[in-house]
Amino acid sequence: MRLVFGSDHGGVTLRRHLAEIARELGHDVVAELGATDESHSVDYPDIAVAVCNEVLAVSGSLGVLVCGTGQGMAMAANRVPGIRAAVLSDGFSAAMARAHNDANVLCLGGRVVGLGLGRTLLVTFLDATFEGGRHGRRVEMLDALERR
Ligand code: RB5
Repeated sequence: MRLVFGSDHGGVTLRRHLAEIARELGHDVVAELGATDESHSVDYPDIAVAVCNEVLAVSGSLGVLVCGTGQGMAMAANRVPGIRAAVLSDGFSAAMARAHNDANVLCLGGRVVGLGLGRTLLVTFLDATFEGGRHGRRVEMLDALERR
């Protein structure tokens, strides 16, 4: 799967860890954008938009955004039309965000989620598939909200 990663300084350690795992699992990590280390302070909205644009550039791509809590990244990402970003910290929600909401961006808190749980959330998110059907109709309703 084509994946795009990004983080601010609050998420750089988890982002690096998860990007490496994704490569080991055979995914195509096309970019790692954002902070280079925890002392390199950057503004999360800029990173979120850059990652989302790269996700939207190729159909079927997914993004992973990490900041301190995941919240700021998700708020920024969900302002980009076509992006459905979910802040996740439990496995059930990680699966449902893809299966029911067709989420295309996973947001995590580098100061909330440990490396082990982060791996579980990433793998669960990537392994899940959108169920369509009634969920497809609801996702179309989300798209319609963008056109109001
Ligand atoms: C940066 O200190 C922090 O505010 C940011 O990483 C994120 O948690 C915002 O939502």
